[in-house]
Amino acid sequence: MATQEEKVAIRGLEGVVAAETSISYVDGVHGRLLYQGYDIHDLAENTSFTETVFLLWRGRLPTRAERDTFRSEIVAEMRLPSQVVEMLKLTPPNSHPMGVLRTAVSMLAHFDPDAEDQSPAANGRKAKRLLAQIPTIIADLHRVRSGQPLLSADPHYGVSANFLYMLRGTPPSELERKVIKVLMVLHADHELNASTFTARVIASTLGDMHSALAGALGSLKGPLHGGANERVMEMIRDIPDVATVQAYIAGMLENKKRIMGFGHRVYRTEDPRTKHLRRFSEMLCQQRNEAHLYDISRRIEQAVMEAKGIYPNVDFYSATVQHALGIPPEYFTAVFAASRTAGWIAHIMEQYADNRLIRPTSHYIGEMALPFVPIEQRTAPGGRS
Ligand code: COA
Repeated sequence: MATQEEKVAIRGLEGVVAAETSISYVDGVHGRLLYQGYDIHDLAENTSFTETVFLLWRGRLPTRAERDTFRSEIVAEMRLPSQVVEMLKLTPPNSHPMGVLRTAVSMLAHFDPDAEDQSPAANGRKAKRLLAQIPTIIADLHRVRSGQPLLSADPHYGVSANFLYMLRGTPPSELERKVIKVLMVLHADHELNASTFTARVIASTLGDMHSALAGALGSLKGPLHGGANERVMEMIRDIPDVATVQAYIAGMLENKKRIMGFGHRVYRTEDPRTKHLRRFSEMLCQQRNEAHLYDISRRIEQAVMEAKGIYPNVDFYSATVQHALGIPPEYFTAVFAASRTAGWIAHIMEQYADNRLIRPTSHYIGEMALPFVPIEQRTAPGGRS
């Protein structure tokens, strides 16, 4: 074991290899992303969200019959205990949907018959239930808050189309079904990102699946992680037109502000997920007569590249795509969470299957051997007693 003097902290654990995984692979130099060995471009074009989930959880693509069974089992679970729906109604209308989602996932554990059963069979049932319940929480919360009746899942749709249907109440068009499916496939996993690491740390204590997901949700909520997409939309809305973009971005950078939706710990080139979302953003913004949102986004991309040489990440075009699907911005990060639940669960299962408690160490930089001062003799900093 390293002595205190030999210990060196790696800030942000950059480059530290903390797990072995076969779930996904990010090649930050060449801009590649693989799920279980398959290229993200092939999966985005050719698989449904549930097919991708099957792949992430079981390590292989399903047959048609397997996919259909898996899909209907999950869709059948897209409903919530009435107590959880009541809780959604009790939350203050301005509380953030990601916070409500975190609370709801925690609460679901109390109504899950398998909550404390850690057997592989029980974990398999919880996995399907949670994958189904998380998009339902988001849809129901939006319906409750906008005073609209809650909808049941339509067995003709898969998880992603049902999510859109249950949120908006109108049948999604063929293009919209494709876009939400691709968006969810693209967000389904991304190696050892902060929220996945959080989930694995909790799983490594042999903590239960609901706890691991609640922790992951807390991690994803932060603006440096999943919370970026909502802020991207705020920025795009804040910019009146394309002509103002350059000055706006220059002003932000001068003030040392981060441009949300840009930069990445691993990618040194374009994030492979960007090209799909950029294409859909253009298509949908034009269709909705909101081409200016796409034009402003393109100009921001150019301005940030010129000023900092930084590429957009998955959150940048996900903002206008979700907006064009009729999803309110405060729900953007929650949609990311609904998709990433697939990856979180895959990683939790992988951790359980070959577990060792994740417990790193730290480099102590504080004082040593201070003489103890009795409380009567202590003074506060600044001389106040
Ligand atoms: N806007 C402006 N500058 C940025 C930036 C951004 N979005 N992302 C990185 N940089 C700059 C930093 O200021 C720093 O520049 P410097 O060396 O001149 O000080 C350099 O790039 C490296 O940044 P660092 O914070 O060390 O990178 P990181 O790997 O720790 O951070 C992110 C990665 C994702 C946290 C960071 O890029 C970021 O804050 N992005 C915005 C939030 C976001 O979109 N998050 C979603 C990620 S998928």
